[in-house]
Amino acid sequence: MSSAPELADKYLMQVGRRLPVTFVRGQGCLVWDESGKEYLDLVAGIAVNLLGHAHPAVASAVARQAQTLIHTSNLYFTQPQVELARRLVELSFPSRVFFCNSGAEANEAAIKLARKWGARNRGGAFEVITTEGSFHGRTLAAVTAGGQAKYSDPFKPLPPGFVHVAYNDLDAIKGATTDRTVAVMLEPVMGEIGVIPAREGYLEGVRAWCDERDLLLILDEVQTGLGRTGRWFAHQHHGITPDVMTLAKGLGGGVPIGACLAAPRADVFEPGDHGSTFGGNPLACTASLAVLAVVERDGLVGHAAEMGELLRSALDGLGAKEVRGLGLMQAMEFEEARAKPFQQACLDAGVVVNAVDDHTVRFVPPLIISPEEIDRAHEVMTAVAR
Ligand SMILES: Cc1ncc(COP(=O)(O)O)c(C=O)c1O
Repeated sequence: MSSAPELADKYLMQVGRRLPVTFVRGQGCLVWDESGKEYLDLVAGIAVNLLGHAHPAVASAVARQAQTLIHTSNLYFTQPQVELARRLVELSFPSRVFFCNSGAEANEAAIKLARKWGARNRGGAFEVITTEGSFHGRTLAAVTAGGQAKYSDPFKPLPPGFVHVAYNDLDAIKGATTDRTVAVMLEPVMGEIGVIPAREGYLEGVRAWCDERDLLLILDEVQTGLGRTGRWFAHQHHGITPDVMTLAKGLGGGVPIGACLAAPRADVFEPGDHGSTFGGNPLACTASLAVLAVVERDGLVGHAAEMGELLRSALDGLGAKEVRGLGLMQAMEFEEARAKPFQQACLDAGVVVNAVDDHTVRFVPPLIISPEEIDRAHEVMTAVAR
């Protein structure tokens, strides 16, 4: 039988590089490859598997729902979808929810919402201010919104209406605001570029500016949401609420689902404006309800804050120039281009980490990670870093 890398080479479009490992099974924070080798997973499907792998609550909810009703389309009502919407609104801010299947789609919904809101309320204003280095997904509008030219340049011409400014710089947002500006769209912690948290006062200042100039504040909490940073949503660290918030990644604990939440002032979609065949289907929503119930029952938001502190101290002393992050979203940046060799050496030694570029390694483990598992990771990474 051909190996997965051989088959991938022949049959998969080569859209990204993969590490030389084929995972076949997972349990909690552990995963195993086809040879039976065990790994401690500090990446969790890039901040997706909030409850780790094969969590019994998610597995049984998915199995039960699969035997009951997987999909119906949004031509009809289904109970899991409306219950999940209610739960998300209860956990965040007064709003209504649109469900889709990914972070990029959630951001597409947010951008379309902002444009419609601008057409209706702001004389056709349509420009969205976003930040350099941000990542909002891979659809054409999402790569254009994102502030990394390497992801958008090959696909020019890009849709108009996006302006990029430096992150953590309120004056840059003020300077870029014109009559055409309809919204500011931000990650509360920039993830993909290497975990850059909003500095104190930044989001508060952006919120006040949006209020002053009648702009929508869109927060992309695709990576930061659902307990990852030690609060249900990262904006809660700053005592503000957005007008629009997008979620995905951890929301389904591994089952694909995305969501866009809009406060009443931004909730301008009408029947026919937007939609999704799969979005919010009973399978994904039941998985998500199971994830949220366990996060709440087991106090995993507070646990993520505590484990984040432990992880941070485990990363201090590994020779990095800087360790930064919030809760269980941490990164360390090396002075030299050591991130990729470090990632490979950790993999060889049985710990999965994520080099986001040549200098920076990201850690977004399952929220269920234990102090003992962080100790184990620390031991391995200390040996590797030597
Ligand atoms: C902040 C943020 N927004 C959007 C996305 C895109 O999500 P998806 O890959 O589910 O489309 C990501 C994915 O890494 C992300 O980190």
